[in-house]
Amino acid sequence: MEIKVEIGSVTEVSTELLVVNLFEDVGQPGGATGAVDAALQGAIADLMAAGDIKGKEGEVTLLYPRGGVSAKRVLVVGLGRRDALNVHAVRRAAAAVARKAQELGIESLCTIVHGAGAGNIDPEGAAQAVVEGTVLGSYQFTAYLTCNDAIRKPLAGLTLLTHDATSLPALQAGATAGNAIAEAVCLARDLTNLPGNDLPPSAMAARAQEVAAQCGLTCTVLDETQMQTLGMGSLLAVGKGTDQPSQFIVLEHNADRSDLKPYVVVGKGITFDSGGISLKPGQGMEAMKDDMAGAAATLGIMQAVAALDLPIRVVGLMPCVENMPSGKAYRPGDVIKAINGRTIEVISTDAEGRLILADALGYAQRYQPQAVVDLATLTGACVVALGTVASGLLCNDDALAGQLEKAAGESGEKTWRLPLWDEYKQQIKSDVADIKNSGGREAGAVIGGIFLQNFVDYPWAHVDIAGMVFSHQVEGWRVKGGTGYGVRLLVAWLRQQAVQA
Ligand code: BES
Ligand code: MN
Ligand code: ZN
Repeated sequence: MEIKVEIGSVTEVSTELLVVNLFEDVGQPGGATGAVDAALQGAIADLMAAGDIKGKEGEVTLLYPRGGVSAKRVLVVGLGRRDALNVHAVRRAAAAVARKAQELGIESLCTIVHGAGAGNIDPEGAAQAVVEGTVLGSYQFTAYLTCNDAIRKPLAGLTLLTHDATSLPALQAGATAGNAIAEAVCLARDLTNLPGNDLPPSAMAARAQEVAAQCGLTCTVLDETQMQTLGMGSLLAVGKGTDQPSQFIVLEHNADRSDLKPYVVVGKGITFDSGGISLKPGQGMEAMKDDMAGAAATLGIMQAVAALDLPIRVVGLMPCVENMPSGKAYRPGDVIKAINGRTIEVISTDAEGRLILADALGYAQRYQPQAVVDLATLTGACVVALGTVASGLLCNDDALAGQLEKAAGESGEKTWRLPLWDEYKQQIKSDVADIKNSGGREAGAVIGGIFLQNFVDYPWAHVDIAGMVFSHQVEGWRVKGGTGYGVRLLVAWLRQQAVQA
């Protein structure tokens, strides 16, 4: 999408679609909306008086100006209550507008920056939210659609309009960042939506190489022989049942800055999770094509970090493996050895995510990282606990947990902290190995974290995103399919770290 920020007047700008807004609890249209209303001889005030526009969040009302303003169409979007306005409401409103514009078949639109003048949001954050909402709300995954009427015309252009020249640099900065971040989310969504047959680990690696070449990241892909040499017996065990070779993808931003301790992001990349020999029930198994959403988000995060050129060192690790049953597959009862020498008794071959993460987290130790955050669709138990509203946050460092909770508030990608108390450790004690990979049904999401803790010796957070990566409905900036959850959360976190660096 081509994004511009322009100084101009709402009544004089020529555009296919001009977007203004309305609060729910404001009697008269004010500001830019007031100016448009006056030029339209009170048409908006009339709609309000008739009770046909209420300003409710996401409400969109289309008007034809009949020459009253230069725009061909005017769209009034509701922002909800003025005192409840925040960047999340702005992002949702922009998403509703984008979808309406697409419905109309419009290719480009011009909007005021919702909230930029309202006082409780800074103009930069408002511009970022408008761009994110527009790009993410109009996202569609069309790779496999062959009948054209199912496909909406993509939005090609977005202009942010301001009358205040002094706000221009802030709006420009917000718009640029918003676009970089939203594009990264779309990358993660695309990968999440791709089915297992078209996105085996080798395709993830090819895609990572491509992204790295485009945005100037360093990318190294370790094959199974190299992983063997490193002692990644835990990851390799998971990949034994499939014909698809496992891949360990390493991305780096500011790789040459060995003076800086890096932040490391790790993403679970199970390109399809059948459960292996502990085969999952058939019903709903198709959903397990999204079991690589953590790795997809990691690639998106690295792309955004490069685009924003954050002045910090960041490493992205994407362990990518397909989990399949076969005569070569690993089995329940097997004992395997991870990169740090820990032995693991396999109870369930369906608790495979923690096995590939064990080696990835162990590998991360070589960087002496400042902090490591893993994103993983790890447990159904986390979905039972928190649903599709928040991810589970398990963290061995209160300062890091606080940073991530702040980033969650800023991005609107919610997390909820769960404990890592020592009492849980007995649940994964094994009689034959150091630990076992499943502790049964109780506290499933916590046990995932307790298991992974065996492979870290640095500040670390595990974000269980199992409930967050796929949406079955359109709501705000989320559309059906892959959500790209985690990209905006961790980019917000890394931007904070960059400010402090
Ligand atoms: N990928 C699944 C977790 C999952 C389940 C994500 C449902 C999204 C929706 C993971 O590999 C898995 O199978 N976990 C097991 C762990 C258990 C065997 C300890 C689970 O949740 O049942
Ligand atoms: Mn599984
Ligand atoms: Zn899985």
